[in-house]
Amino acid sequence: MQIRLDKYISDAMGISRQDAKKLLSRGAVAADGKTVKKGDVKVTDSSRVYVNGKLLEYRQFVYIMLNKPKGVVSATDDKNDTTVVDLVKGDYPKRNLFPAGRLDKTSTGFVLLTDDGEFAHDILAPKKHVSKEYIVTLDKEINEEIISSFNSGVTLADGTVLKSAELMPTDEPMVVRVVLKQGVYHQIKRMFGVFDIGVNELHRTHIGGVQLDEKLAPGEYREIKPEELEKIGLNRNDC
Ligand code: URA
Repeated sequence: MQIRLDKYISDAMGISRQDAKKLLSRGAVAADGKTVKKGDVKVTDSSRVYVNGKLLEYRQFVYIMLNKPKGVVSATDDKNDTTVVDLVKGDYPKRNLFPAGRLDKTSTGFVLLTDDGEFAHDILAPKKHVSKEYIVTLDKEINEEIISSFNSGVTLADGTVLKSAELMPTDEPMVVRVVLKQGVYHQIKRMFGVFDIGVNELHRTHIGGVQLDEKLAPGEYREIKPEELEKIGLNRNDC
């Protein structure tokens, strides 16, 4: 990948292109061993770029794990409510972050934020089979019949036939684990609605093979490590 040096500096330092150009014209930038003053010089993501003698760490994209609290909406901006992007953007002022998949306003747990459009598309694409796992608190007990309906594919009230989903009881009565491989609007609430069961709490714990970090309190976030990104389970050749 080739990238203009002024963009590289602006991405790596979280500053504007204009400020990156000022650093360049002041002679503060060295790329691959030479002082460079022009922003249109091309570098690659493996170039070694120093600003005032300090090596920059370049990342084309960022991937963030957020523990979404209740009351926050899964959007980039909203007139009335705090969004998941509002919670993180102070640390990433130059990044166009967005949530890769949604949780309802009342739901909590793992939301992945990124500026990598292709990655976001892929983790939502049904053909990529990236599972999402939830802990769900219900207002009634489940039974074997409901478990096997989830397994064979629930038909929603509007006639939509869903793919097979896993439903497992936990040690706590009325608390279940659900694993989905597709994302239909209000899917879990609508699936239990078919059996006249209400959802009181819904918390996403996993995306693919990655678990939400238990150290993150509601509203807290951290970057997803490269080895965790691998564990999301995307096989880019699937589609
Ligand atoms: N299913 C729902 O009904 N709500 C969510 O937030 C996620 C899955």
